[in-house]
Amino acid sequence: LSVSQFERADIDRVFGVADTMGPYARREKVTRVLEGAILGNMFLEPSTRTRLSFGAAFNLLGGMVRETVGITASAMAKGESLYDTARVLSGYSDIICMRHPQAGSVAEFAAASRVPVINGGDGANEHPTQALLDLYTIRKELAGKGRALDDFRIAMIGDLKHGRTVHSLCKLLCLFEKVQLTFISPPELAMPDAVVEQLRAAGHQVTVTDQLEASIAHVDIVYSTRIQEERFASQEEANLYRGRFRLNREIFTRHCEPNTVIMHPLPRDSRAEANELDTDLNEHPSLAIFRQTDNGLLVRMALFAMLLGVEGDVDKYARPVRW
Ligand code: CP
Repeated sequence: LSVSQFERADIDRVFGVADTMGPYARREKVTRVLEGAILGNMFLEPSTRTRLSFGAAFNLLGGMVRETVGITASAMAKGESLYDTARVLSGYSDIICMRHPQAGSVAEFAAASRVPVINGGDGANEHPTQALLDLYTIRKELAGKGRALDDFRIAMIGDLKHGRTVHSLCKLLCLFEKVQLTFISPPELAMPDAVVEQLRAAGHQVTVTDQLEASIAHVDIVYSTRIQEERFASQEEANLYRGRFRLNREIFTRHCEPNTVIMHPLPRDSRAEANELDTDLNEHPSLAIFRQTDNGLLVRMALFAMLLGVEGDVDKYARPVRW
């Protein structure tokens, strides 16, 4: 439900299991370890990668997926409560993934559920599995340079007020040591004070600024985010901030060290006036955004296997691929 439920040892365990999922994610092997199990995938806000990667991860472990997509497709559109919905859906499922527009809603749903619930994003609050896959990606990218998860520098850019992915990632980073964070945003969209204070209490160095180009020179990771227009009172208000902190090949080449890793939780806003991460970086080797989405499959497979207690049996139920 929240990254606050994780200790560092839990993260190491999840990442260790995720490391074993590669052959299954690449369809070099299949496993039936979750044969007969049902995932209730309930997404009441738009999603591409979280919903589809949860579904694909469950399928890759041999389980079935039942989806409810959009609030109008559920009886919540008729006023049904989270409590009743959870009682009903958990009777049809062995595990549930849920995304909902209200902060705290997934925890409320989980309290009434009879099966485990994974938070796929609750309003502007948290997106724990995105944070785990981001951290897993950072770990892999740093490992490629002979570095570890402690002692690195990251700049987070954009709508840091509403971005639930960066909120969750920062909370996870509190479990590590000597991380230097730079938050680059308009003052109105700054990282919440509570998150900044938590990081400082963990001993991390935090810089808050509205200067992009001067602040990305000496970092290992630049983590760009979208203006979360769905969290603003109006489209006009969101439009005030679009394109304010745009990262493109020219800015990256001029200001960043060449091996700086470029991350983004996606989706990025591809409208020409809005794109915070320009398509002219698409083929740049530093661009890790699609490595992030691939890693999401591994991390979500690991979470399913661990929550359902089968992480030790995945290979036991493996078969060769027949196609
Ligand atoms: N990163 C992320 O949550 O993407 P989706 O909204 O497509 O699931």
